[in-house]
Amino acid sequence: MMTGIDAAPRLRCPALHFTPPQGWMNDPNGLVYFEGEYHLFYQYHPHDRVWGPMHWGHAVSCDLCRWEHLPPALVPDADGMCFSGSAIVDRDDTSGLFGGEPGLLAFYTVHRETAGDPGDYVQEPCLAYSRDRGRSWQKYPGNPILPNPGLRDFRDPKVVWHAPSRRWVMALACGQVIRFYVAENLLDWRLASEFGEGQGAHTEGPWECPDLFELPVEGRQATRWVLLVGVGAGEQESFGSFTQYFVGHFGGERFHNENPAETVLMMDEGRDFYAVQTWSDVPDGDGRRLAIAWLNNWLYANQIPEAGWRGTLSFPRELSLEETGEGIRLRQALAAELGTAGGLSPSRMANSTDALMAGDNVLIEQGPSAAHGRLSLQMAPGTTLEFDLQQAGQMLLRITHDGSALRLEHRREGRNGDPDFDRHFPHHLTGQRMAKTDIELEWLVDRGSLELLVDGGRYAATHLGITDPFHQPVTVRLVAGSARLTEGRYQGVIDPLE
Ligand code: FRU
Repeated sequence: MMTGIDAAPRLRCPALHFTPPQGWMNDPNGLVYFEGEYHLFYQYHPHDRVWGPMHWGHAVSCDLCRWEHLPPALVPDADGMCFSGSAIVDRDDTSGLFGGEPGLLAFYTVHRETAGDPGDYVQEPCLAYSRDRGRSWQKYPGNPILPNPGLRDFRDPKVVWHAPSRRWVMALACGQVIRFYVAENLLDWRLASEFGEGQGAHTEGPWECPDLFELPVEGRQATRWVLLVGVGAGEQESFGSFTQYFVGHFGGERFHNENPAETVLMMDEGRDFYAVQTWSDVPDGDGRRLAIAWLNNWLYANQIPEAGWRGTLSFPRELSLEETGEGIRLRQALAAELGTAGGLSPSRMANSTDALMAGDNVLIEQGPSAAHGRLSLQMAPGTTLEFDLQQAGQMLLRITHDGSALRLEHRREGRNGDPDFDRHFPHHLTGQRMAKTDIELEWLVDRGSLELLVDGGRYAATHLGITDPFHQPVTVRLVAGSARLTEGRYQGVIDPLE
């Protein structure tokens, strides 16, 4: 039952980015592919537009673009709220819950406040199962499947199959480390190891929402394991919550980081790319590792402008690994399904001549609802290019070729009168450099967000924007120097609801 929020004016939804039907959403949960459908669950509070008693919202899609909303899969009860977790296909009925047939298992976190004090709680991994393609869910009577051993943070189970040891592995966020548990039968879990102390980035906040997967290294007969970790916002942190990743080896018990312990690898350099999870059980035939993130930051998530709903997810991204001079690194691409999104209208850049001089604008047509574009440029030394994504410089990316490398700078404006929001939302990030002078930019602008991939997805920056309507013309302006445009493509996306 809705309480008051039905009456709220509806903010126009993004055309291509998933949003809840109403209320509040945070992390994506339980991403799993089963019988032709991508399932997407998410942290959901349907009765208000701020974080609250967590449900698992649910939607399915066949093409990662159009989502059908289904009723919440898990709802809070006397045992507690349903915090984040993962899902898998139990293909061989290892759990014994499916009478010999394949079925869906969801591993969620029960979060129970003790003595009614929000700061005083117990968290425990629990199991739910569905025998009808995810349409209804039962909580397992033997919950919790992993009793809390006395840790304050004990949440966000990510369960994966480790083929060489023929065992299931659960990565679990425990304070500022990730613990790995293993099980043969998906029900009886044993602690195998712990990873994180002295590794990568730590803030005052907890590590959250781990993911673990293996990927081939492009062009080599080798694979590596990737461990994704959400780094929670500390009170003092100006950057807030962000996603880091580790690359290394995993033999079924222990994760070995192959980079120096102090190396911090950011999955996305923007402010709004958190709680990243990847789909389980995507058919082997295409061997894809598809990821999606909550586009937000706990520093201001509860204060961003809203009307009727609050919270959006990234467009799904396909991940790969490649060898670089600094080691093996993640590379990201917008899932190819974007090209098949309904209502695409390919069009030309307003100025697609190849030689650009200082003062030239490449004005890109405005998309009806969302816009996906690509630009490839070769920049002469001393060239500065501004990529203006909203009118009046609300969101600006500046790329400067300083003679030896490219320097990226991004700036975002936006205030809404709430002191917390106004303190944290506007930003100016600088300092990223890439040892290249030719550059590929790809962007997806939708109502409320910008996803930007630079250099063929080797660098990503994702930001929320609060201008409404958001879809203003994108302007690329050469401020100084000269550049050669080697590719320019653009397509507008028509919102199927309009
Ligand atoms: C991450 C997180 C998770 C937790 C969930 C609660 O954003 O804090 O660790 O399970 O959100 O909604």
